[in-house]
Amino acid sequence: MKEYARLIIGGKELRLPVITGTEGEKAVDIRALRKETGYITYDPGFANTGSCKSKITFMDGEKGILRHRGIPIEQLAEKSSFVETSFLLINGHLPLRKELTRTSIMLNDQSMVHEDMKIFFSNFPRLSHPMGILSAMVNALRSFYPEIIHTEEDFEKVFIRLLSKVRTLAALSFKISRGHKVIYPRADYTYCANFLNMMFDSPVNPYLLDKDVVKALNTFWILHADHEQNCSTSAVKTVGSARANIYASISAGIAALWGPLHGGANQAVIEMLTQIHEKGAGIKEAVEKAKNKRSSFRLMGFGHRVYKTYDPRAKIMKKVCDKVLPKLRINDPLLDIAKALEEVALSDSYFVEKNLYPNVDFYSGILLRAMNIPTNMFPVMFAIGRLPGWIAQWKEHMDDREQKITRPRQIYTGLNQSAYVPMAKREAPAVEVPEE
Ligand code: ACO
Repeated sequence: MKEYARLIIGGKELRLPVITGTEGEKAVDIRALRKETGYITYDPGFANTGSCKSKITFMDGEKGILRHRGIPIEQLAEKSSFVETSFLLINGHLPLRKELTRTSIMLNDQSMVHEDMKIFFSNFPRLSHPMGILSAMVNALRSFYPEIIHTEEDFEKVFIRLLSKVRTLAALSFKISRGHKVIYPRADYTYCANFLNMMFDSPVNPYLLDKDVVKALNTFWILHADHEQNCSTSAVKTVGSARANIYASISAGIAALWGPLHGGANQAVIEMLTQIHEKGAGIKEAVEKAKNKRSSFRLMGFGHRVYKTYDPRAKIMKKVCDKVLPKLRINDPLLDIAKALEEVALSDSYFVEKNLYPNVDFYSGILLRAMNIPTNMFPVMFAIGRLPGWIAQWKEHMDDREQKITRPRQIYTGLNQSAYVPMAKREAPAVEVPEE
């Protein structure tokens, strides 16, 4: 039987249909609200707003569950590869062997970037952040590949191009920022091995691939592959909803991900842990500062809009650090500091009462450091990982007939109508004196 919510407002009763998802999540369909009553909803940050129906990713923030196309993240992290997980997210099913082989071949075919793109890189100021560069370069891809997506084949070509070229662009930006010789992709390497080789091979010091590092990178990228309607994915979809091209949409996602409250948190965590390690700022002091409402400081890598328990990705990331660092004979003091910080925070009533637990970014930077990835490239690593999610979500959005251009409303709280005052008659606005 169809369920309804009853809303009595402005002397009127409205029956609003309830939508139920396959995992039992419920939403009140308020699409008729404004038309029927003149009211809108008020929900800053859209914390209570479902923006779409989606078949891609399921999260249960209370139980700490994350599944892609039904498959638990724990199984994907252990058994899958990043390319296979990308295929799963975008196409909706695990690939057959021949489909995976075809995808790998296409990724290799698309791995080069236009030589002219190298000129763009050399004109960015030296201290440019790699996320700004990546966002600009992905937007620029549209100028090199202006064709419009009409068919499923066109879409396949574009998503493979993005997955392959963004990885090359990221490695290229690293090499150019160092003033080093650019290393081209190799057709005989897998996706992750190719990236590591483009980053670290050099004419004087050949890079020796280590299978543990390749596996760790696969896991890292799988753990970042999608996270339903997060800030950057919503940015991608918002730009896409205006029918801007996919490169512009993904470029917007990269810009959103750059923020320290989102994908930039992995860089911010390492900077925070380094501060504790090198400058002797204490762990307890960091926790106290994060609790202090007069300070804007937050414990980076802690808290999540959806997870009110331990982020399942952080659990896996911590285990991977514990396994990979000893294998690589790395003893990183930041890992011990992170574990101690976690212990102090998780036994503090502020963090317990607000359900603030480590999120994916808390341990991910330690893994990236072990792979020699420089700190300012951490958000770029996140961006490459999130690409398949952005692409899958963009496609679902474009195919969804219920979707419209994203355009929230507002409650206006400014001045009522007032007349234009000529310059000669204007007075300085009264300065508000704060109360004692
Ligand atoms: N340190 C200290 N206090 C925190 C933290 C934190 N890391 N996170 C949340 N809080 C507090 C807030 O001050 C707020 O307190 P109040 O209720 O007394 O005002 C309460 O917990 C709820 O926080 P909100 O900011 O309202 O929660 P929201 O869901 O909007 O934010 C966010 C989630 C942005 C992730 C937040 O927890 C945060 O800033 N964390 C640190 C940055 C970070 O690690 N970001 C990565 C997130 S994962 C990702 O994007 C991949």
